[in-house]
Amino acid sequence: MKTAGYIGVNVCRFLLGITFIFSGYVKAIDPLGTQYKIADYLAAVNLAGVLPDWITLTASVGVSAVEFSLGIFLLFAIQRRQVSRLVLLFMGVMTLISVWLFLSNPVKDCGCFGDAIHLSNGETLAKNLVLLVAAVVVACRPLCMVRFISKPNQWIATNYTVVFIVVSSLFCLYDLPFFDFRPYHIGADIRKGMEIPAGAPQPKFETTFILSKDGVQREFGLDNYPDSTWAFVNSKTVQTEEGYVPPIHDFAICDGTSGEDLTAQILARKGYSFVLVSPYLEQADDTNFGAIDRIYEYARRENVPMFGLTASRNQAIRRWQELTGAEYPFYTADATTLKTIIRSNPGLILLKNGVVVNKWSHNRLPTEEELNGPLEQLDIGKINPASITEKITMIALWFVLPLLLLTLTDRLWAWTRWMKEKKRRNKIYQLLKKRRKMRKKIVAGNWKMNLNLQEGVALVKELNEALSADQPNCDVIVCTPFIHLATVAGLLNGKPISLGAENCADKEKGAYTGEVSAEMVKSTGAEYVILGHSERRQYYRETPEILKEKVELALKNGLKVIFCIGETLEEREANKQNEVCKAELEGSVFHLSAEEFANVVIAYEPIWAIGTGKTATSDQAEEIHAFIRSAIAEKFGKDVAEQTSILYGGSCKASNAPELFAKPNIDGGLIGGAALKCADFKGIIDAWKK
Ligand code: PGA
Repeated sequence: MKTAGYIGVNVCRFLLGITFIFSGYVKAIDPLGTQYKIADYLAAVNLAGVLPDWITLTASVGVSAVEFSLGIFLLFAIQRRQVSRLVLLFMGVMTLISVWLFLSNPVKDCGCFGDAIHLSNGETLAKNLVLLVAAVVVACRPLCMVRFISKPNQWIATNYTVVFIVVSSLFCLYDLPFFDFRPYHIGADIRKGMEIPAGAPQPKFETTFILSKDGVQREFGLDNYPDSTWAFVNSKTVQTEEGYVPPIHDFAICDGTSGEDLTAQILARKGYSFVLVSPYLEQADDTNFGAIDRIYEYARRENVPMFGLTASRNQAIRRWQELTGAEYPFYTADATTLKTIIRSNPGLILLKNGVVVNKWSHNRLPTEEELNGPLEQLDIGKINPASITEKITMIALWFVLPLLLLTLTDRLWAWTRWMKEKKRRNKIYQLLKKRRKMRKKIVAGNWKMNLNLQEGVALVKELNEALSADQPNCDVIVCTPFIHLATVAGLLNGKPISLGAENCADKEKGAYTGEVSAEMVKSTGAEYVILGHSERRQYYRETPEILKEKVELALKNGLKVIFCIGETLEEREANKQNEVCKAELEGSVFHLSAEEFANVVIAYEPIWAIGTGKTATSDQAEEIHAFIRSAIAEKFGKDVAEQTSILYGGSCKASNAPELFAKPNIDGGLIGGAALKCADFKGIIDAWKK
């Protein structure tokens, strides 16, 4: 479900990103075309001419740049939250506009994709609804967008994108649109563009006749036209189908003075002609008229006809001629057509046999060096078929490649950082491991009330042999019943096993029949004593106070204490294990000084796991061991806590010991059942070698 969500968000993000980039780009490289579209919208709401041109032009560059940049940001998942909200806002507004277009049809083509793709208003609405849904999906879970550039480097891509698109837009404004999607692009045969192919659908009309008879008026069609007893009153004709509209349908040139239609004549003209196109001469840029004159000179020299095309009246033509000294004739054409032919006022086109061979903005007219021979021999006189590939390569080199390099460098950087971080973590881990090594790893056996003296002696001998042959990687302790201690101590002399008792009295000495004091334990040669075992707390009612006495006496007599703590099943189920363990520590060992506490080993033994075959999972055990260590750190400081060995006890076996001992806060085990057989016990001891 989660993965499906991720995939969904990313699919939507790519769909939106690619659409925004495409539509933003095609508009950005045709700033004048976009400006004309904005003017169409303003006219549709009766605001034609209200805003000055510089505002609509700035809006054109701005809107396209915002759209393109949002697309790139989506694609690279830059500023995910803000960008997804902005995209949603953008799509919300666009969808509202397209609903209006669909319902009222104020503008025929929405202009979403400039001149690259024309959509009907219905198609635009459907497209925007899909994109709006995608924008909602992305805005709901923006953080699911997978990043391609890490946060600290995003500013590079952001600035580069904005600069790229604004500079591209301004360059296309200065020159001509980088890509020309209009029917008058270089290579277009104007006559072909005007052709209606045979069999193309014709526009259809329907006529209704209103006739009357005996004072009654009725409507008839051609198919049910009545007899002559009906008298004709009126008729109306409506267009029912549009029919095929050729890409070029409004190209008409006429002589402004004689009114003669020159279209066919000009298009049929063999050879080259220069055409200076200016929709409105009043608004034409006249700063480059010197260059235009030079071209006219060249045209005259080379016998190439040159004429101007404008929608302006004679007065404006005369003014232009006076201002620039233009001697070439001017003909008249529709302003919208002229704006479509070239996005420059004025702009120059070179026609050959009715085909557009080349186009120039007034800012980049051919230079004298370029016009150094007959047009047939010049590069500018030929259609350059490689120009589209060259342009795409240029975009790839100037925009795609740098962004790609940035992404790769960023990924490499992120990877090195990740490696560094891994190394650092490893170092910390090694340090922790080293520290951990400083505290003792222990495997202690607790025989409880099992094994008679002979059995105990036999087991110790076997263990002695096994561990002498295969040295343990930890401290090994066997804690035996009192009566075994002295004998076992004799067997262990000089061997890698230490001895411990399972209990000691809470009184120093005296008339306590049946008790064994800490001093007596020590005198057998034992070094350790288990205190606080849950079985003693439960069956012999050893309270925290009693245990406190025992701990003090043991330490006083030079014994090290293996102090047991742990919760019952009910306490675990009530999630009280931390509380219980802490209380047991506080009740019997937390009153000690740090020096005294250094001789205490803690054994965490969940009561529900003792002798039951149920072990705490290694994660459960690690969690509470870490808590116990933190409680010790809180009481005695970090260093003491780091030095304290904390053992796990409760159904620990050779099979689960390696996993338990691998945890950083588990320093070994206190073993009951599995300590009664040499092979079992040795198996657990060997876990420290894994
Ligand atoms: P167990 O006992 O290993 O048999 O569960 C552990 C103990 O009580 O110390």
